[in-house]
Amino acid sequence: MDAFMADVIAGLGTRPKRLPPKYFYDAAGAELFLAITELDEYYVTRTELDILRQNATGIAGHIAEGSVLVEFGSGASTKIRTLLDALPRLAAYVPVDISTELLHQEAVELAQDHPTLPVYPIAADFTADFALPAELAGHPKAGFFPGSTIGNFEPHEAANFLRTAAHILGRGAVFIVGVDLEKSPETLHAAYNDAAGVTARFNLNMLTRLQRELGATLDPAAFRHHAFYNASECRIEMHLVATRAQTVRVDGCVFEFEHGETIHTENSYKYTTARFAALAAGAGWQVEASWTDPQGLMSVQLLRHG
Ligand code: AVI
Repeated sequence: MDAFMADVIAGLGTRPKRLPPKYFYDAAGAELFLAITELDEYYVTRTELDILRQNATGIAGHIAEGSVLVEFGSGASTKIRTLLDALPRLAAYVPVDISTELLHQEAVELAQDHPTLPVYPIAADFTADFALPAELAGHPKAGFFPGSTIGNFEPHEAANFLRTAAHILGRGAVFIVGVDLEKSPETLHAAYNDAAGVTARFNLNMLTRLQRELGATLDPAAFRHHAFYNASECRIEMHLVATRAQTVRVDGCVFEFEHGETIHTENSYKYTTARFAALAAGAGWQVEASWTDPQGLMSVQLLRHG
């Protein structure tokens, strides 16, 4: 049984029902996420880009000459470009992504804009341990993990990821991490309940995937998007709510839904700088510098593995 099928059957079999957020991102989901990043209500992407643009020189000041820059989950790699111009003396750029197609596209485009920068793409699940190319040993390392993707990990998973990254990058490395900050519940609510309904379509697309890829018997129209800020856990929760009692079938397994029962599809944790620093310290990283926007919505944290 493939991993997607196994995760869906396990997730729908637990109470409360769950589906892992990594399954949002098929081609349609990736496009919907791109549309989310352009919404007025979704401050995360544009605010982080502004922070990176305005502080590129300051950030570059923490990265030694001749460093290897490793991007975890590089995707379309728009953000790294804001840093590359400020880092003329990099030894290499190592984009790591599960999608070989994206890695290839990106390597071709980067070669045009930065023809002298050696690029070593690695096709891998960036949350697992992977080895850097042997010829890059001996160079200082800098990691890059923007977008507040760390907020989609449970805190213990975030700590494990930071520990793995410390192992991959090694002692003395820096790690630049985009971290979304706690803020008013109204701003958060709007960001995950946009007026145009793009986030709702992104959430519901998970069910379309189940139908199309796993042959699941279900009616996506009998579910609705629900996102709210859970203040005691400091996280946005996204759910799919059954709008009537129904039966979902996947690969011979039968899952009963009561009216109003939910599938928990995503958590998006928001941190204070102090809570993030404590999480990082537990995984072997010290905050060396951090930058935020004038409204304090989003942050870029620069960690050092001592
Ligand atoms: C990818 N990740 C940081 C997004 C977030 O804000 O947690 C995913 C997302 N979910 C709904 N809108 C955006």
